[in-house]
Amino acid sequence: MSVDQKLGQLVQAAGGRSKSLNSRLTDAELDRVRAGKVGSYLHVAGAEALGELQRVAVEESEHGIPLLFAMDVVHGYRTIFPVPIAIASSFDPSAWEEAARISADEATSAGLHWTFAPMVDIARDARWGRIVEGAGSDPYLSSVMAAAQVRGYQGASLGEPHTMLATAKHLGAYGAATGGRDYGSADLSERTLHEVYLPSFYAAEEAGVGSFMTAFNDIGGQPVTGTEALVDGILRDQWDFDGLVVSDWNAIAELLNHGVAETRGEAAVLALQAGVDMDMTSGVFETDLKAILDGNPALTADLDRAVGHILSVKERLGLFDQPFAYHDAGREEASLLTEENRAAARDIAARSMVLLKNESQTLPLSDPAGDILVIGTLADDHLTQLGSWRARGEAGDVISILDGLTDAAPDGVTVSYEPGGNIQTADEDAVDAAVQAAETAGNVILVIGEDYDLSGEARSRSSVELPAGQKALADAVLAARPDAVVLLVTGRAMAIPDIAETADTILLTWMLGVEAGPAVADVVYGARAPAGRLPVDFPRATGQLPLTYSETPSGRPANPDLSVDSNRYMDLPITPQFAFGHGLTYSTFSYGQPQLSKSAVGPQEAFSISVDITNTSDRDGEDVVQLYMRDPVSRTSRPKKELRGFKRVAIPAGQSVTVTFTLSPAQSATYDDDGSWLIEAGRLDFMIGPSSDSTSGQVTVEVTEAAETRVPAAAIETEVSVQ
Ligand code: BGC
Repeated sequence: MSVDQKLGQLVQAAGGRSKSLNSRLTDAELDRVRAGKVGSYLHVAGAEALGELQRVAVEESEHGIPLLFAMDVVHGYRTIFPVPIAIASSFDPSAWEEAARISADEATSAGLHWTFAPMVDIARDARWGRIVEGAGSDPYLSSVMAAAQVRGYQGASLGEPHTMLATAKHLGAYGAATGGRDYGSADLSERTLHEVYLPSFYAAEEAGVGSFMTAFNDIGGQPVTGTEALVDGILRDQWDFDGLVVSDWNAIAELLNHGVAETRGEAAVLALQAGVDMDMTSGVFETDLKAILDGNPALTADLDRAVGHILSVKERLGLFDQPFAYHDAGREEASLLTEENRAAARDIAARSMVLLKNESQTLPLSDPAGDILVIGTLADDHLTQLGSWRARGEAGDVISILDGLTDAAPDGVTVSYEPGGNIQTADEDAVDAAVQAAETAGNVILVIGEDYDLSGEARSRSSVELPAGQKALADAVLAARPDAVVLLVTGRAMAIPDIAETADTILLTWMLGVEAGPAVADVVYGARAPAGRLPVDFPRATGQLPLTYSETPSGRPANPDLSVDSNRYMDLPITPQFAFGHGLTYSTFSYGQPQLSKSAVGPQEAFSISVDITNTSDRDGEDVVQLYMRDPVSRTSRPKKELRGFKRVAIPAGQSVTVTFTLSPAQSATYDDDGSWLIEAGRLDFMIGPSSDSTSGQVTVEVTEAAETRVPAAAIETEVSVQ
């Protein structure tokens, strides 16, 4: 290949001028393909249009190398599933695997080879708008969900045209942006980077993810996209990754804004040397690298390496043998938004909801006394249910909460509706009308929260409280009807202290995709029970952020009996409003005393912890059994609790199951500065329960000697069995 041809492979161009979908490329664009100046397109779609583009690349370019077609298929292609943070709330990796499998099937039917998902960034600051795209705050939960998505998208073989290349993004601590400000700097210790932010990336790598995307931001002054130690050093040297690394949108050119390059050429060199293979849209590899390559054999070797990674991926996808395998218009027609896919979306949506409060057992409304009044503009908002990133999803495909509740209302029950004003500003007349109707209604369902436009990329908020219009509505309606069922629609953890105090019943629905309405109706009317759990702590106020149950202990621990000298706020309890792992259901469960298989183990010796859980209610139900670890004495202060296993398990009324977690001491390893991980000798405590703030029955294992490992502890998945 000529240098120009090689450089062409590194170029990822956008179909259309903006980020909008556009499959109609211009003649000038087709000439670019003929000239071999593009290796990949993003934000294009359509089996036929992309087939034609592929034909030009394969038949009319000199080298005949096929193109890679990419899109952000993040939680569905046409059948939109719940937003990622919602699916993570299912605490059920099989739900994510299924959503990813269907998404891949639909997207590949439309000619796509590559998705920019899973987003595996840890987010502990809900001001960050992109918290909606990931699995929340916990490295273990995120690792399990990352691996499940990779399995779902990539299947058993990437060469099969129903599977697509997945991307773990955005390496490495994009979610740690200071103050939750998107694209902002992350300043964190090496230990936190490796123990908290990187394990989910490693888990994706172990699951065989074919590509990684570097983050926009810098870590401690080192913009990831231009930093060899962060890309090559971690991915390729430490983890042996041999796939494709793509930059984020325009991120290579943005190295100039970061102030680490003076010219586009310098930026291109930094990124190529760092290990970035493909340039998403900034054009610097295309325009600025050639002159610098002349007489620079080291850089030429970097170029060859990058081209090698890109061609290998094309080969893994089978594109050299069958470049048109993804371009069957008949298959596209038959694959999108099928009844079967909708049914899966409904099921996964039902699994994603979290019942935060149900004090008077108002839910389920299986036999409501009187009619139902639904209040809130979000109840009738179709677009919001699609959330951030909606690929080819259409608002018209969505069954709204209002329609779902109306269609499935029990016989003889009428559903009426009051919008109650808009999101941002209070509309007094609309609020009054809602309150008036609420005063006489048999049952009130109040749907409040954020709309789709308040979370997602570049949608950070300085406050995670309800927007003013929603707050005014909620306060007024709950003053009149504290028995109203609150449905919280959101893409982030929110601070809702007043509602948490006043309302009897709060169901967190997140944003649930095309089948939002039927799924909400299933749960509200009791055909399904909610059993999701919080993948992130819900704060009492914005000022509590960042927040995680998994912080290290203070030397002066929180003590409600001490007014000074303890870890506290003067104006707020230090605990979250709703803790990580919290979630109720329509059944009740009791836990037995955990049993250990061995009380002392060597550093490589597996051991197990079993617990009996009994459904103490008269309704079949599902519980999410959670295993937490604590290393009480270590060379560094360790988190108060760390999730190390979970199982969503069905337990029939009145019956018991035994859940067994099989672990390895390597799951307690701590990061060492030289890149290794040390399993320390000594005690490990384990606690089991239905939530991070409700664990009991501590058992202790003694690790008899120390050992080294190279694997991030939180990325090691615990085996779980149920009897
Ligand atoms: C986002 C990425 C996304 C890319 C392509 C960027 O702005 O940060 O997550 O994959 O755009 O759409």
